[in-house]
Amino acid sequence: MKKLGVAVIGTGFWGRNHARVFKELAETELLAICDIDAERARSVAKQFGVTPYTSTGRMLKNENIEAVSICTWSTSLAREALKALNAGKNVLVEKPMAASVKQAENLLKTAEKEGLHLTVGFLMRFIPGLQHIRKAIEDRTLGELVCANAKRVGQWPERIGDVGVVKDTAIHDLDVMRYVFDEDPVAIYAKTGSIAHRKFEDYAQIMLVFKGGKSAFIESNWLTPYKTRVFMVTGSEAIMKLDYITQELTIENAKETVQPRYTMQEPLKLELQHFAKCIIEKPLVTGEDGLKALKIAEAALKSSATGKVRSLRN
Ligand SMILES: NC(=O)c1ccc[n+]([C@@H]2O[C@H](COP(=O)([O-])OP(=O)(O)OC[C@H]3O[C@@H](n4cnc5c(N)ncnc54)[C@H](O)[C@@H]3O)[C@@H](O)[C@H]2O)c1
Repeated sequence: MKKLGVAVIGTGFWGRNHARVFKELAETELLAICDIDAERARSVAKQFGVTPYTSTGRMLKNENIEAVSICTWSTSLAREALKALNAGKNVLVEKPMAASVKQAENLLKTAEKEGLHLTVGFLMRFIPGLQHIRKAIEDRTLGELVCANAKRVGQWPERIGDVGVVKDTAIHDLDVMRYVFDEDPVAIYAKTGSIAHRKFEDYAQIMLVFKGGKSAFIESNWLTPYKTRVFMVTGSEAIMKLDYITQELTIENAKETVQPRYTMQEPLKLELQHFAKCIIEKPLVTGEDGLKALKIAEAALKSSATGKVRSLRN
């Protein structure tokens, strides 16, 4: 099998994991990495036996590199993704995809014009329990879908200093809600604020309303002293609860509580494998999914700033 030549741009905490997984996958061949921190670029490149770069210009000229992961700081993701698309590379850009909706739209347009794959690092979709929940909603084994709740709280990861908790953290759940409801929300109300963070919001409560009155609630913060990542869906016949950390899924109905067992899987491995395969097929997460989640994140911030419900035009 011909392997897909790949590179990683930005090799801090998360990009290093991308590099490791690309190295492990049968479908990909990691050829290079790039980080503006020369020392980091050297040490990561040495760890994986590839060529280090401290800027992308020369690296993107390598025709053997067909796809790149962009894992830089959130505010430079879009700039690097645009350069890679313009150089003819397929792109997986980490969430939140861009610092603004306008930048994200530009990425979509460029990818389409160049006929390249553009996908966004919405990792939760690759957790087997979430796929199970989506299927249970689709097959109506839950009964009528009523509402969903997500809680993603913990302490501020200090390396994140360029966006707030909505675009960094809650955005995962904004995408999860669109994914499991299989539609876009029609209205949003949010409250955000800052207690410990000087520049950005560090807590957010977000309510999304879907057609027909179904709703979703997201609680997200960088204040709670322990890390919790849970997702719960209420249907008329059953409730499903997923712990993203342990990947444990619990299904409760009037008669029983069931915990289907899955082999624990690394979602990043599933995500990057899917990306590689999708250079040929259609990806699970499209650039448009990234753009839509970002639009909702910006509406959440506006709702919180004005204290008003905002309707969402799709
Ligand atoms: N999908 C997920 O679950 C998930 C998890 C963690 C982080 N992330 C995302 O990954 C990105 C990186 O997060 P992190 O925690 O690794 O941050 P980090 O600060 O540890 O790493 C960022 C790295 O990018 C480098 N960098 C910055 N601008 C660059 C540029 N223009 N070219 C090359 N290198 C550049 C920095 O030197 C640094 O090494 C963020 O956008 C974050 O939202 C996603």
